[in-house]
Amino acid sequence: MQLIEGKVVSEEVKESIAREVAELTARGVKKPHLAAVLVGEDGASRTYVSGKVKACERVGFNSTLIELPVETPEEKLLSIVDDLNRNEDIDGFIVQLPLPDHMDEEKVTMAIDPAKDVDGFHPASLGKMMLNMPTYISATPLGILKLIEHYGIETNGKHCVVIGRSHIVGLPISVLMARKEKIGNCTVTMTHSRTVNLEEHTRRADILIVAIGSPRFVKADMVKEGAVVIDVGIHRIPDESKKSGFRLVGDVAFDEVSPRCSYITPVPGGVGPMTIASLLLNTLEAVKRKA
Ligand code: GUN
Repeated sequence: MQLIEGKVVSEEVKESIAREVAELTARGVKKPHLAAVLVGEDGASRTYVSGKVKACERVGFNSTLIELPVETPEEKLLSIVDDLNRNEDIDGFIVQLPLPDHMDEEKVTMAIDPAKDVDGFHPASLGKMMLNMPTYISATPLGILKLIEHYGIETNGKHCVVIGRSHIVGLPISVLMARKEKIGNCTVTMTHSRTVNLEEHTRRADILIVAIGSPRFVKADMVKEGAVVIDVGIHRIPDESKKSGFRLVGDVAFDEVSPRCSYITPVPGGVGPMTIASLLLNTLEAVKRKA
């Protein structure tokens, strides 16, 4: 079993981005500038966004964090999105999800200029991805592709089973793994919470991508010997042996599943760090497209 070390790979990606930024600025091109909008006090969202801002500093990007109180009216957020669309200094921006209940995520996502949609959540971005046209691929699916590529894992003709159909991960990664691309050409089965006899599908997977959002959901008897397992989940579960009182686990029961795998991503340190690195890659791409 080989660990897919997203943390290590993401550091390499960030180093290479930092080198490109240095080259760009040496040529007189301005630094890439990523903005993030965070509405409300959700702890996990705050952690993710501050990780994104810190990563910008690390690679030499400018970053702007716009924090709004939970009671912000939707019109106010839409007007900020409009300002960011028009602001020529901002190369790309994200609105962190989930938004508070009184806001319509679809409406807000649709308001983002696809040219600055470095999250790849706009229908225009997702549509282009499905048609294999140049676009921004959302950060988590892009991070998964980069990991598969980095470890030289063969995807051609393999059976890839995806658990989860979210717009952010399950749906796009299912399409991407089937595309006629170097990392692609899989026969894909997309499964979800209503799939009957799920384990009959997962046991046939050469590559199993798990984004169901349920801690330690995938057990050893659901995985074929020699499979590649990509775990997108991240959850805090109580653990009295830790000073913090919790530990992080994924959607896969790592201890029992990992001995069966050829490759597996750990949690933490697997897919998570690659998500941030991919967002930076998309932002750098935005600058290059403008140039
Ligand atoms: N919420 C969970 N993941 C993401 C992400 O990648 N981007 C945004 N904007 N919100 C998220």
